[in-house]
Amino acid sequence: MGYIPEDIVEKIKDDTDILDLIGEYVTLKRAGKDYMGLCPFHREKTPSFTVVPSKGFYYCFGCGASGNAIGFIMRHENLDYPDAIKHLAKRSGITIPETGTSDSLSGRIYQATEYAHAFFRRNLKNSTAYEYLRGRGLNDDTIAEMEIGYAPPGWENLYREVVADKLAPSDFEKAGLFVNSEKKQGHYDKFRNRLMFPIKNISGRVIAFGGRALGEDEGPKYLNSPETMIYHKGSVLYGLNWSKNDIRSAGKAIITEGYFDFISVYQAGIKNAVAVSGTGFTPNQASILGRFCKEVVLLYDADSAGMKATFRAVEVLFNAGLEPYIVRLPKGADPDSFIKENGVEPLQVLLDSAVDYIGFVKESLPDDYANLPISRQERIIKSMVETATGIEDELRYDLFVRKAIETLGLPQSAAAKFHKRNQKSKKRSIPEILGRVKLERNYLGFLFGNAEFIKESSQLLKPEVFTDVESKEIYSNLISVNSNSFSIGDFLEQFSDDGIRRKITEIIVSETAGAPPDLRFNEYLEKFKNLQVSDRLNILQSEIARAEREGDIENADKLTREYQDLRNVARKKVV
Ligand code: UTP
Ligand code: MN
Repeated sequence: MGYIPEDIVEKIKDDTDILDLIGEYVTLKRAGKDYMGLCPFHREKTPSFTVVPSKGFYYCFGCGASGNAIGFIMRHENLDYPDAIKHLAKRSGITIPETGTSDSLSGRIYQATEYAHAFFRRNLKNSTAYEYLRGRGLNDDTIAEMEIGYAPPGWENLYREVVADKLAPSDFEKAGLFVNSEKKQGHYDKFRNRLMFPIKNISGRVIAFGGRALGEDEGPKYLNSPETMIYHKGSVLYGLNWSKNDIRSAGKAIITEGYFDFISVYQAGIKNAVAVSGTGFTPNQASILGRFCKEVVLLYDADSAGMKATFRAVEVLFNAGLEPYIVRLPKGADPDSFIKENGVEPLQVLLDSAVDYIGFVKESLPDDYANLPISRQERIIKSMVETATGIEDELRYDLFVRKAIETLGLPQSAAAKFHKRNQKSKKRSIPEILGRVKLERNYLGFLFGNAEFIKESSQLLKPEVFTDVESKEIYSNLISVNSNSFSIGDFLEQFSDDGIRRKITEIIVSETAGAPPDLRFNEYLEKFKNLQVSDRLNILQSEIARAEREGDIENADKLTREYQDLRNVARKKVV
């Protein structure tokens, strides 16, 4: 693809008057500061197509089309971006200088990653790492299928080959394979004397690596690629590229914690597995799995970290509408060691008898649960039911609550009361949610109308404060633009999703002036700050319950203190 320098693009944009441009295609009539006409993108009899020259954009109430001048030309003339730019350049009499081609940056990062992958695989042959793999029970077919490689010891093995092949070290740095050292004045290999597991996206392209240390002395046991342009670790599941079809046909995925766990399970013939590898299980990962199956079996390590991770994963799975099941391995085991000791049949038996969440909580309770004070019993059940509020289906949720109460043996009288109370608290929050969505929207409208506050807002308000996903996305994009040259039209063009574009134009159009901007800005910030405090209180509340359930009294106490302090501060402020 031809490459057009950024400053030329800016010049072309500056030289193009959106009113003139669109006026060549649409008959526009003045309406206040703006101009209206019949929308060229859908059939209509009364005008709902609006051009806002002061803000450099157009939108249509009727069909939701919106964008800046470039976007208009792209849509109207059916051109891609470079051709639209060329079209506008010609119209303004600007010549675009001939430059060499430039592949996209992400394309170069893919290439660097693939190059390194081939290098690591070459180095595995006849190496100590290969012996290590065989010693851990992997056979040749598995080693080949998983495309495992080896980064030899030394600081410049990959580096020297990259230089010899006249490739750009900076691409390898951006791919997370080189470290750029001030002291050594140059690049060196990030992965040294490590077994290299290629991490692939769903379609099987290498995007990152997990590197297991083979020497005792150097760094963490596993060193993983950093986040790069092509690797977002919260959206990848190790192994899914190999197992997706088996997961789909089984309707079920087995999740393990580690690379070796996945590989052992897979090699043993249980092919519908994946590994989370080094992160907590994220909502993104859950929604990816949800495209392939509805049931998920958590097969985590039998240690306290694995236990905590299991509780968290269950919550994420419920919230994604998936059905979690849990396997508990014998103390100290992980799936890999379990297979090695016992073979695959006993593992299959465990998988077949995986318990649901209620069963799992019951099994994890202390033996003397029945003798705990009622208040603590109640809190355990309450936090369990809270976890289950992610269950969308109401019938399923009711069944869940009933079963939880039965299984854990709470008197029916208390159960009925508790059940109702929980339902009520779920309902009460709906108007709150709606109020908040509105506040977020209004605030975005305020920022669109008063772009000079964007910068300050970016320092004071994190996108995480937003609850509405679209508003959150709009806000995070908004605070990453340079507010000195903010243009709504350009901003709109960043979004390819028509739903979001429509939402942005609605917000812009409904923005009304009021009190002086300074006052309004402070008022908004104050409101958000209060919401943040109540969010934090809510989180603390469920963390306290969770700590109690996990038997971590020390942490529960600590969290309770934080809760009380924060609540006291909040109370004082309200008075
Ligand atoms: P484990 O420590 O359980 O390792 O970490 P493992 O997978 O059983 O590996 P072996 O059998 O000892 O060789 C589980 C997973 O957590 C991540 C890795 O993805 C690992 O597979 N991890 C672990 C890290 O990211 N960094 C670490 O330092 C350790
Ligand atoms: Mn292990």
